[in-house]
Amino acid sequence: MRILFYDTKAYDKASFEKELPNYPDIEIEFLRTDLVPRTASLAEGFDAVCAFVSSNIDKETLTILHAKKVNLVLLRCAGFNNVDLDAARALGIRVMRVPGYSPEAVAEHAMALALACNRRLYKAYNKVRENDFSLNGLMGFNFYQKTAGIIGTGKIGAAMCRICRGFGMKVIAHDVYENPSLKDFVEYVSLEELLGKSDLISLHCPLTDGTYHMIQLDTIKKMKDGVILVNTSRGALVKTSDLIEGIRMHKFAGVGLDVYEEETNNVFEDRSDEILEHSTTARLLSFPNVMITSHQGFFTEEALHAIAETTLQNCQDARAGRKSENDVQE
Ligand code: NAI
Repeated sequence: MRILFYDTKAYDKASFEKELPNYPDIEIEFLRTDLVPRTASLAEGFDAVCAFVSSNIDKETLTILHAKKVNLVLLRCAGFNNVDLDAARALGIRVMRVPGYSPEAVAEHAMALALACNRRLYKAYNKVRENDFSLNGLMGFNFYQKTAGIIGTGKIGAAMCRICRGFGMKVIAHDVYENPSLKDFVEYVSLEELLGKSDLISLHCPLTDGTYHMIQLDTIKKMKDGVILVNTSRGALVKTSDLIEGIRMHKFAGVGLDVYEEETNNVFEDRSDEILEHSTTARLLSFPNVMITSHQGFFTEEALHAIAETTLQNCQDARAGRKSENDVQE
């Protein structure tokens, strides 16, 4: 099997190359460019493409892949909202993903963002480096005995519930399905009740038509004043322009984002003044109580190892014609 690997970063290449000796029938060619309609035809002569959340796997890309006889898309990530699944199904292209490489990696990052925002660690770090040891502007609040509201209690949300419990928080959650493993310490409530009761709200549901912009002005107004909002799931769960309005209304003690709506628009790669002037992410960064990281929740040694291993196993299963729970279906 020959895989064309798009959007390769040095750490991807290192983790896959480490794993490859265990899969002698698989060969990988690594490309820097991402998978978009214009680059899809490069996959001619390959059996599969390996892509990421940033790739644009729309109908046009899939049609070109199909014409080049590539019938397998290996996503080295959990999310698949960037794939036109109807088109893939119609063209007979199999799409596989890595559903849960290390839920704790993302949940731990969500808590790191929550703590960094609460205790203003980014500000403290800069102040002390400049010889300013005063505590002005650094006051936080205890998480102990406060309420954590977790939206989405799948693999990552459940890990976040366990972490919050470890902090001595009361944990409430909202999901379309209840996770039985959490029944001893998590109370499921309506979204409305969660918004009104939580001191920390963390988003862990996928981006779908039903969750798109679930955090917008109406839902923000229902939150407690002084809440901390964390999003490590997908940027478009939050309507950024409304979030900015909420921040201006002093609704939030802090906002921690690992994902943001403009992630795929190369806002910060381009860096032109005009783009930055209209960028909602750049506006968010101008607020002192907002902390943004660049989609690094998954980025731990353990997770990268699991991603490489599962992706190569997916390729092997597809080659053998085996069904897999990692097949993407909606
Ligand atoms: P999962 O599929 O295990 O859990 C998602 C949960 O969301 C499920 O329990 C589902 O029932 C729930 N859900 C669906 N619609 C909902 C709604 N309308 N309201 C409330 N809950 C709803 O997924 P997992 O592995 O926990 O990942 C969650 C998300 O985290 C992924 O979709 C992905 O977007 C994001 N992610 C972010 C990473 C990062 O590096 N920042 C890395 C990996 C995933």
